[in-house]
Amino acid sequence: MVQVFDKQFESFITAQEINFEVNALAQQISKDYDGKELVFIALLNGAFMFASDLMKAMQIPVAISFAKVSSYAGATVTSGHVKELIGIEDDLSGKHVVIIEDIVDTGKTIDAILPSLVKKNPASIKICTLLFKPEAFEGNTKPDYIGFSIPNNFVVGYGLDYNELGRNLNAIYQLKTTPHSMLNIVLFGPPGAGKGTQSERLIDKYGLFHLSTGDIFRANIKGNTELGILAKSYMDQGQLVPDQVTINMIKSELELHPNVKGIIFDGFPRTNAQASALDELLSEMGTEISLMLALEVEEEELKIRLKKRAESSGRIDDANPEVIENRIRVYNNETAPVKEFYQQKGKFVGVNGIGSIDEITDRLFTQIDLFKS
Ligand code: IMP
Ligand code: MG
Repeated sequence: MVQVFDKQFESFITAQEINFEVNALAQQISKDYDGKELVFIALLNGAFMFASDLMKAMQIPVAISFAKVSSYAGATVTSGHVKELIGIEDDLSGKHVVIIEDIVDTGKTIDAILPSLVKKNPASIKICTLLFKPEAFEGNTKPDYIGFSIPNNFVVGYGLDYNELGRNLNAIYQLKTTPHSMLNIVLFGPPGAGKGTQSERLIDKYGLFHLSTGDIFRANIKGNTELGILAKSYMDQGQLVPDQVTINMIKSELELHPNVKGIIFDGFPRTNAQASALDELLSEMGTEISLMLALEVEEEELKIRLKKRAESSGRIDDANPEVIENRIRVYNNETAPVKEFYQQKGKFVGVNGIGSIDEITDRLFTQIDLFKS
């Protein structure tokens, strides 16, 4: 990991890999231009290091000139403006030109300098670049020799800079992407608040992975697994399954789905201990909770909803009024403090959980879109 100004960069292409590729390019070019009058035109500043190493690895005579263009104004996003080519005054008649670039990104630099090179009458013009970003490329002339095709990430090192620094690094580093690109939501609320229903809609809209501890426990109970039998003894009483059991289960569930866009935690964390454990787990994965969305519904309404649900779903823990009472009590005592846990981190958002399903969904979407913007 290296730091250049305010940005962190992580290892991307090692010095060894560069060396290997530079040699391979030199060999190929040496072969293609054997017996021809070859001149490299290296584009400053970025290509100086690549041009130097490439020259050293060439096996045929080759001349070199340096030209200066600049399309980057100290930013990590291409400005698209390309200045004129300066520094090539010679007549290139009869000479075969290979332009040496450190990186071809949009391809605008190459497109902009080609006409002025053509005017100098070279026998041929080809382009050799160490790095090529196919996803960013929108030019008319693709490089003929490419060291590495890379994703559209900003890179530094081996001649490439961020705000003029980082050029001296002997390897190539890429800008560290932030873990915040994952959208991880804790959907919170008392039993009967509508977490399951709303989860489905959030999943559809944001492509999230649904992690419902209740669903996993119920699946285990149905399958009569060891975990299921253990969990059942607690759930039938309206008690919480012990933290360590739940946390271990979450951990193995997350390990099974390493490449998700985001996770919606439905029914978890339910205690402060679980919330801290989850933080730890996510930070190991290089990510974190984005937001806790809490559906707020008062007790009387909850009891009515749970009774209705028991009639249609047959969930045992919904049927018995005493169990219902106990679940709401447990929620108030143990789970509600989790709200404070996220409040302190500025991640808590309360959402009115009374209204039509669509209305509540809209409220949730609004909060998430606010967070993302
Ligand atoms: P173009 O977009 O192909 O015209 O590339 C223009 C110039 O942008 C390159 O010669 C580099 O100087 C600079 N550039 C493009 N991508 C990067 C990068 O990831 N890191 C550092 N400089 C870059
Ligand atoms: Mg350059």
